[in-house]
Amino acid sequence: MAKVPTQISLTAIALDASSAVPLYRQLYDSIRAAILSGQLASGLKIPSSREMARDLSVSRNTVAGAFDQLIAEGYLEAQTGAGTFVSKKIPDELLYASNKTNSQSPKNAAKRELSKRGKTIAATSVSFPLDKQRLRPFAPCLPSVEDFPLQIWAKLAGHRLRYPARNLLNYGEAAGYRPLREEIAAYLGAARGVRCAPEQVIVVTGTQQAVDLTARILLDADDTVWVEDPGYLGSRGAMNAAQARIVPVPIDAEGIEVETGVKLAPDARLICVTPSHQYPLGVTMSLKRRLELLRWASRAGAWILEDDYDSEYRYEGRPLAALQGLDNDNRVIYTGTFSKVLSPALRIGYLVAPPDLVDAFTAGKALLDRHSPIFEQMILADFFAAGHFARHIRRMRNLYAERRDAFISAAKSELNGLLEIAPSAAGLHLIGWLNNNLNDTTAARAAAENGVDCEPLSALSIRKTNRQGLVLGYASFDEKHIKEGAERLATALQNC
Ligand SMILES: Cc1ncc(COP(=O)(O)O)c(C=O)c1O
Repeated sequence: MAKVPTQISLTAIALDASSAVPLYRQLYDSIRAAILSGQLASGLKIPSSREMARDLSVSRNTVAGAFDQLIAEGYLEAQTGAGTFVSKKIPDELLYASNKTNSQSPKNAAKRELSKRGKTIAATSVSFPLDKQRLRPFAPCLPSVEDFPLQIWAKLAGHRLRYPARNLLNYGEAAGYRPLREEIAAYLGAARGVRCAPEQVIVVTGTQQAVDLTARILLDADDTVWVEDPGYLGSRGAMNAAQARIVPVPIDAEGIEVETGVKLAPDARLICVTPSHQYPLGVTMSLKRRLELLRWASRAGAWILEDDYDSEYRYEGRPLAALQGLDNDNRVIYTGTFSKVLSPALRIGYLVAPPDLVDAFTAGKALLDRHSPIFEQMILADFFAAGHFARHIRRMRNLYAERRDAFISAAKSELNGLLEIAPSAAGLHLIGWLNNNLNDTTAARAAAENGVDCEPLSALSIRKTNRQGLVLGYASFDEKHIKEGAERLATALQNC
C-alpha cells in the first residue's frame, strides 16, 4: 500500500485571490480533497489557524472559516488544548473517493453506458459556438438586450414583491399563469391571426421546450419528420433526441418544398416549419404553399409544428397571418417566444395546442418541470396589461429597421464583391452569400479571428449546399459597431 504522508503540505494549496470563489471556500476544498484522496492521513495534526494564515498570506478569519466548515462536516476534529486533527472517523468509502471518481477507466464500464436515447442527446448540439463572453457583430439570433425595458420591468417586479399575491410562492397551474395565457391568446388573435382560446395556450420555457414537448407527445422512435434544410438546429436537435427519422426538405422562394417532401417521405408524421420568416434563409412561405402544406397534412394525418419565432419584426408590407389561423383540421401546433421581443434569458415562450391535444401537452409540461416560474409570468402579464408590450414592439421594430438599413448600407460600401446580401423584409438577421467560391466554414473562422461572429449556412444544412453563405445578425449592434463589423469582415474575407 502506498505510504500516506503525515505532514500537511501547504505548497499543494493554491489560493487564487482573483477567483469568484471565496478564499475560505478554496481552502476548504483543498484540505477536503487532500483528506479524501488520502494525502492527509487520519489523525494527522493540522497547523494552527494562525500558522496557516501566516504561511498562506491570508487572514485568520479565512482559515477559521474553512476549519469550521471541515469540523462541522466531520473531516477535522478540534481537541481542546491539543489542536486540530484530521478526523479518525471518516468512513472508509469516503476516503480515496475523489481518486475513484476521477479514474479514467471505471471498473464496471459496461454498466455505466448511456441509454441509446442518452447517447443521441449527448451527441446533439443545438447551438453554434459563438463567443459568449463578448457580444461581437454579427452574432445572429439575438435581440438588443441593451434596450430591454429594465426600468419598467423593475417597477412591475417591485410592485409584485411589495404586494405579493398568495399564489406568488406556491405551485401554479402546469399550463401557466392564467392572466398571462389570456394576454397571449388575445395578442396572438389580434397580431398573428391565431385562433385560440386561453385554455389552448401553454406557457413554456421558450420555443426549445415547445419543440421538445411536441416531439415527446407526438413522435415514437423512427417516426418520420420533415425538417427545413437549411433549418433551425434547436428543432432538429429535439427531433433527433426523440429518435425520429429526420428528412431534410429543401427551401425555395416560397418556403418549404412540399412536393419534394411528399416525394421523399410521404409517411411524415410531423413537419417542422418557420413560415413567417424561414430560419435561416429568411423567406416567407407563400399563401399557396401554406394551403398546399395544410391540405397535404390533413390528408396524410400529419402534424405541423409552426415556429413563429420572430414574426413581430416585419419592416415592409403587411405580415402574413400565422399558418395556424388557416388550419381547419387542428393539425398545427403553434409556438412563439419572448426571446426575440424581450430577452432570451427570460426563458418564456408559448405553445398553442389543438383543443384535443391540450391535456396531453399540459401533462407533458407538468412532467418536465411542473410549470414555468410564476414570478416572471406575473410580471410579463402586468407588462402586457399596462400596454407596455405593444409599445415595446413598436419601438424595437423601428430600431431594428434602422439597424437593418445601416447593415445593408455598410455591406454595400465595405463588402461589395465579397458578399451579396439577400433581401429580406423581416427578422433580426440577413444572409450574406459568399462570392469567389469561398467555403463558409473557412470564412466564419477567419471572421471570428478578426473579431466578427457569424454562422456558416453549412452548419445549419444537412445536404450539401449549392451556395455558401453566412448568417449575419444586426439587431444587437448600433450603427458604429455595424460599420466596424463590416470592415473587419471585409478584411477577413479578403484574406481567406
Ligand atoms: C428558428 C428559431 N426558433 C426559435 C428560437 C428561439 O428559441 P427559444 O425561445 O428557445 O429561445 C430561435 C432563436 O434563435 C430561432 O432561431
